[in-house]
Amino acid sequence: VSVSFVPSRVRRGRRAASGATVALSLLLLAACGGGSLSEGGGGSENEGPVKIGLSVPISGVYASLGEDMTQGFELYLEQNDGQLGGRDIEVVKADEGESPQTGVPATTKLVTQNQVSAVVGIVNSATALGLKDTFVQSEVPLVIANAGADELTDDASPYIWRTSFTNGQVGAALGAAVAEELGDKEVYLMAADYAAGHESTDGFRETFTAAGGKIAGETFTPFGTTSDWQPFLSKVRASKAGAVYVFYAGAEAVNFVKQYDSFGLGQNAQLYGAGFLTEGGVLDAQGDAATGVKTSLHYSHLLDTERNKEFVEAYQAAYDEVPTVYAVQAYDAAAALDAALEGAESTDGAGVAEALADVGEIDSPRGTWSFDEDHNPDQPYYLREVQETDGGLANAVVQELEQ
Ligand code: PHB
Repeated sequence: VSVSFVPSRVRRGRRAASGATVALSLLLLAACGGGSLSEGGGGSENEGPVKIGLSVPISGVYASLGEDMTQGFELYLEQNDGQLGGRDIEVVKADEGESPQTGVPATTKLVTQNQVSAVVGIVNSATALGLKDTFVQSEVPLVIANAGADELTDDASPYIWRTSFTNGQVGAALGAAVAEELGDKEVYLMAADYAAGHESTDGFRETFTAAGGKIAGETFTPFGTTSDWQPFLSKVRASKAGAVYVFYAGAEAVNFVKQYDSFGLGQNAQLYGAGFLTEGGVLDAQGDAATGVKTSLHYSHLLDTERNKEFVEAYQAAYDEVPTVYAVQAYDAAAALDAALEGAESTDGAGVAEALADVGEIDSPRGTWSFDEDHNPDQPYYLREVQETDGGLANAVVQELEQ
């Protein structure tokens, strides 16, 4: 589906020009002798809108994450008059769906048929891994705005960039702090059985055991098809673990946290996780069952900075809800492309990829960051705890984590 820009879900803000203002400006332009409204004028290949693909899940367990990403991406465009780097943008959307079976063909089509200059999005690591070669071989940049598989960026391809995180990093950020908090208690690891779940628990295990922590056991649950966690939770209980670390996101996170609470494990075993566990709409759906859950992440809408407050306010005005990490990652992907297109010598894939290497610092709601040598954000991680706040249940920022 190709959509011309005017995001349907973004409510027009107070700053939108009224018909009268526009008419007046046009009159003034005419009076000043401006014969043409186009800026560059005349026949260069760099005219007309630049096509950018947006591929996020519109269906499946990660659909709510995809919606947040679309909202973040569209808010950035909205705030910049539908332009990136001074160029009008045509957004071409694809449904990543739940798995590589849907995400790989839908996203590949953006490159082969729609001939976009870059693609933003991709939630699922398995899907991103299945797409990597296509982007590298087509010389079109993929700006990953979520999927955290470590391997995606391990060779720093000029065509693979990431505005999110690596799954290993998010897990690793929490290990030492949990070891210190728990003393002698052991931790049980549980996660969705695919790249993201394995890398997240590997990252956690590494820093947790290095700090003296002990692992009681581990279980990986079938991704996308598990709806009853009781058999797995029984194993945790039998292990007598004093705490649990998990990787779940989207609809799986909702079910897991609710069942963890109703199974009564919460009283004996503190629940920790990668921050996706309690992010955004997921937390609303979990309600009280999530109170006290502790996670690591590179964002909370409660981060106390001017830049973040201004962003949260704009996001709430547009969508009537607080922003999530997914929205910020896609917002920042738009910011990275904005800076890249500003400096790009050409707007084909190779030109945009080359310009991405020079974008410098991104002034993000999460804090200022830049791409590291592997094309991942160089950024801090925070310990968050689900607490009752003035705005209801939210991920309060407890401390910045040492890395
Ligand atoms: C991933 O597949 O890498 C992934 C998916 C959902 C998340 C985080 C990571 O919330």
